[in-house]
Amino acid sequence: MRASTLFTAAASLVCATLVAADGAAIVDALNNVDAETQELESRVQNWNGGLLSSIPIVTQSAHVLSAINDGTDTAEDSDPLTTEEALSIATAVNTLAATVNGTMTAIIAAHDDFEHLLLAPIVLLDLKAQKSSSDKMSAAILAKVPTALQAIAQNLVAPIDASFEQAIDVYSLSNGI
Ligand SMILES: *[C@@H]1O[C@H](CO)[C@@H](O)[C@H](O)[C@H]1NC(C)=O
Repeated sequence: MRASTLFTAAASLVCATLVAADGAAIVDALNNVDAETQELESRVQNWNGGLLSSIPIVTQSAHVLSAINDGTDTAEDSDPLTTEEALSIATAVNTLAATVNGTMTAIIAAHDDFEHLLLAPIVLLDLKAQKSSSDKMSAAILAKVPTALQAIAQNLVAPIDASFEQAIDVYSLSNGI
């Protein structure tokens, strides 16, 4: 079992070095951010407000951050995108924006429970880190989008920023510790 895990790890390392990042890799990275963000949403929604059960939320929040950072790396390594690639990325961004909206809505709804446990400042730090990483990922993707599609692409990523901003506003009003 251990050997096969090692083999898989080695195989994916080889693939990662052989295959240059492109539009499809960015779509995969965005879908990964989407999946991790959906998992965060469901953990927050299913949370009973207890201290111990908040730990999986904090853990998942870190997974979201690292998925976003992976997305930035993938976009930075990518060649400039064709129009067709940019359009497939637009669809993935649109899906992600809807997921981020739902997740931030759930996090906003859970504010009082987090504050009660004095965890609101930690959530605020996570949100700020995720927003800043997400801004970097957006910038890295936008840099590879054809000039003619830049304005459209900016409009597509804007709601993601706005969702983070709403949640950050709510948590910024918490009583600090
Ligand atoms: C989610 O989207 C709706 C509809 O566009 C908007 O009114 C709401 O403010 C958004 N909420 C968050 C947290 O982004």
